[in-house]
Amino acid sequence: MRIVLVAGARPNFMKVAPILHAARGLGWADVRLVHTGQHYDKKMSDLFFEELDLPRPDIHLGVGSASHAVQTARIMEAFDRVLDAQPTDVVLVVGDVNSTIACALVAVKRRVKVAHVEAGLRSGDRSMPEEINRVLTDQISDYLFTTERSARDNLLREGVAGEKIHFVGNVMIDTLFRHRERAKSSSILGRLRLERQGYAACTLHRPSNVDTLEAAENTARALEELAHRLPVVLPVHPRTQARFADFHLIERLTALPTLQMIEPLGYFDFLALMDNARLVFTDSGGIQEETTALGVPCLTFRENTERPITVTEGTNTLVGVDPGRVAEVADHVLSSGGPVGRVPELWDGNTAGRIIMVLEAACLAAHTGPDPT
Ligand code: UD1
Repeated sequence: MRIVLVAGARPNFMKVAPILHAARGLGWADVRLVHTGQHYDKKMSDLFFEELDLPRPDIHLGVGSASHAVQTARIMEAFDRVLDAQPTDVVLVVGDVNSTIACALVAVKRRVKVAHVEAGLRSGDRSMPEEINRVLTDQISDYLFTTERSARDNLLREGVAGEKIHFVGNVMIDTLFRHRERAKSSSILGRLRLERQGYAACTLHRPSNVDTLEAAENTARALEELAHRLPVVLPVHPRTQARFADFHLIERLTALPTLQMIEPLGYFDFLALMDNARLVFTDSGGIQEETTALGVPCLTFRENTERPITVTEGTNTLVGVDPGRVAEVADHVLSSGGPVGRVPELWDGNTAGRIIMVLEAACLAAHTGPDPT
């Protein structure tokens, strides 16, 4: 089976790493890694390849940043040429970024099978670009690998055939558990003069939270509320950096003595930062899951989540986009310790192996044909 794995943006790299490691060296699979170049900075991309032991991509499309339409179209054009040059049986895409839908769409039109890892997650909010990418990718996928049971219901409701859906667990948590020990030797707390359990780690980059003046000011207010309660560290995503600068919010935030705004961090440093935090404040999708796996309280600065298990079983609280509510929930976490969650079913570090087993069975079936009996 000739498999092409696609990665494009920062949250993809920790998802493809365990799949690539599990698949490479198998007799039945020829696996290639394609990097679309959606993220291209050293800190948003190269560092993750080094830290996660990812080999250099076999092919780099180098598309870079652009509007959604232009970025998606550029990826499609370049990826079409990859499949021209390289006979492929399965294109495996992960997550919900523009690279995910772009490569899935190219593959399905060429009648190449599509495998989608992290299928079936739904926020119900179609104003999120990621939600559009999720819905469309799932519609054209042949193998849908899910992280939580609710995803299956979402897919069945949208007419996806049940036999295409495989509940395998969370591949990003494979990477988290694999590297948790190693991250303990990170020096990030010392470098930032932070005490274990004595600070909040934050990430904020959703367009809905930073792209307009009103939203960015609201986000800044939420950061101020937190920074009045405990030291806060915010590795600033390039989008957030650009918008905060446009809206002249940098001066206001750097004036807060308890807020440190720093460059984006690598995987080990950020994992150490989360693992030792009193709480995490985020609008990311993946970080809601990582904090649940680590058992660290997470306040999610969004009105909805496509990862409901992090709320029902994990340590996540949806605080909406209300700075007052952020203050209230932070006070509660600081006084009570926050929700005590549990690690969800099949988030056990072995998800990549289960994905490979499904693909291997499909490969065998394709070679033996239908059972004559
Ligand atoms: C993308 C994903 C989002 C994911 C996020 C993680 C989509 C629709 N969105 O959003 O789901 O949570 O990645 O980071 O795919 N930039 C750099 N260096 C880079 C990459 C981007 O400076 O290496 C800057 C560019 O100015 C760019 C901006 O960041 O315009 C936004 O990047 P883009 O990839 O378009 O979207 P993200 O906001 O990162």
